[in-house]
Amino acid sequence: MHTLKQSAIESVGRRQLLQAGGIGLLSGFGIADAAQSRSSLKSRIVCVGGGITEIICALGYESSLVGVDTTSRYPLSVRHLPSVGYARHLSLEGVLALAPQQVIVGHDAGPLAVLSRLREASVLVSRVEDGQTLDALMSRVKQIGQLLKCVGQAQALIQKLNVEWDALRQTLAIPAHTIRVMFVLGQTPSQMLVAGTDTGADAMLKHAGLQNAFSGFRGYRPVTAEAIIAAQPDLVVLTQPDALTPKNGLNSRSVIDQFTGLSATPAARPSRWLVFDTMYLLSFGPRLPDAILTLRRASIEAMRA
Ligand code: HEM
Repeated sequence: MHTLKQSAIESVGRRQLLQAGGIGLLSGFGIADAAQSRSSLKSRIVCVGGGITEIICALGYESSLVGVDTTSRYPLSVRHLPSVGYARHLSLEGVLALAPQQVIVGHDAGPLAVLSRLREASVLVSRVEDGQTLDALMSRVKQIGQLLKCVGQAQALIQKLNVEWDALRQTLAIPAHTIRVMFVLGQTPSQMLVAGTDTGADAMLKHAGLQNAFSGFRGYRPVTAEAIIAAQPDLVVLTQPDALTPKNGLNSRSVIDQFTGLSATPAARPSRWLVFDTMYLLSFGPRLPDAILTLRRASIEAMRA
């Protein structure tokens, strides 16, 4: 982990004070005020990664955020924060303009050169652990609790997640028929990618006791009509950036129409198309137990319809 040198803290701090309110704010500051302002400046955080943003907010530190990336969509209030671009294509200038004291990033944040340049500019860049299991989520909460120096709040959140996970396990213990799912990452209409193995989507399907109909390749890919017919999915799960409410979707029609092979599969019926908000299913943040349960229930219901 990188730490700020004192001189760097002071120079960043001074710049931020000037930006915050002009030189007039500095006059009349006593030592205690100056110390207090320095410590509050430490809380200027830019967060890159929707799930991490959710954790920071769940720990009660939303007010420390001065910027987020475009995958940070929840809670809704973070959408009003300045954006530093897409997690995988961060803008160096965009981040620096926010004069952060700390940039907390997830595993897919990049380009790496941007992160290095931030460190060279004496910004504390902390990378949070990856992982799509409950254990990984809990260790992320713990790590963020340490970064924000709120270990107690982190422990309380971990306890809450444990309780929710226990309840989830009881539901998952009830056997369901095998449901073969085609999971489509629908970020932009021109880019419909189907999830193979080693993806967040595949991990979610496993958590929910569902089968990925496309386990023959790794990552997200466009697929042909022939591949869809061969996979014979029972159900399509489509994620879109701002579909906040899970719903069976007529408005997914235009998207589904792109997959011509579907008409020759059990997933041809509109009742077999489920639309979810991307970051609800794929952020692996504090909403994880809820998202798994909702995905599971919606899938079983869709099969009955
Ligand atoms: C500029 C627009 C965007 C482009 C070009 C884009 C591109 C991509 C690509 C190519 C992948 C697949 C990566 C791989 O193969 O591993 C991906 C994954 C993903 N994207 Fe984006 N994306 C965009 C915007 C967004 C937004 C706005 C969100 C959030 C609301 C988002 C959330 C995700 C998630 C959750 C994944 C899956 C990661 C995983 O499973 O580990 N993307 N994106």
